[in-house]
Amino acid sequence: MELYIDTANLDEIKQAHDLGVLDGVTTNPSLIAAEGVDYGKRLKEICDVVSGPVSAEVIAIDYDGMMKEGHERAQIAENIVVKLPTTMAGLKACNALSNEGIRTNMTLCFQPLQALMVAKAGAFLVSPFIGRLDDIGHDGMDIIHQIRQVYDTYGFQTKLLAASIRHTKHMVDCALAGADVATVPFNVIQKMLAHPLTSSGLEKFVSDYKKAFG
Ligand code: G3P
Repeated sequence: MELYIDTANLDEIKQAHDLGVLDGVTTNPSLIAAEGVDYGKRLKEICDVVSGPVSAEVIAIDYDGMMKEGHERAQIAENIVVKLPTTMAGLKACNALSNEGIRTNMTLCFQPLQALMVAKAGAFLVSPFIGRLDDIGHDGMDIIHQIRQVYDTYGFQTKLLAASIRHTKHMVDCALAGADVATVPFNVIQKMLAHPLTSSGLEKFVSDYKKAFG
């Protein structure tokens, strides 16, 4: 399973990149707003650090606006993936940009038929949001299993990118369900390496050695 970081924070991106396990980055308008930086400038900075796919979302919600912003974002670096909302206009823009050879990530996906449609339109990535489905009382993992089954049944090449991941249980479930990619906040990446027995075991190894040899 590929691992992306879901943030626009450059320091977190650099730290995750330095671990040697980072395959890409996803951003969205809320994440950029939280950083209070210019979207284009920050995307360039991210692409200077990470060579894998960097998702850059459009702000426009109409077709012409999405195409304009999509072309602008795609000019920033060759690893930019244009992130579009899963709407009628978004689907049309996905198809048009994909036909031009510009990769797309279809976001705000909450049911398997949306994933079927974006795959047919040529999306590179589809982003089903697990945590936000959990938030409203659904089991967010259901959509991951459903999309996996649909894509495998019909041989769609669109990558299943599990998004809105809140904790390590989501990550375990996504890995078992066969998600192609998971995008996660930095705090989840840190927790993926943590276990109390690792910490206590390490502490004992070091103290035993120091007791014996000073
Ligand atoms: O970037 C899209 C997605 O990962 C957002 O997650 O936690 O805001 O639902 P969240």
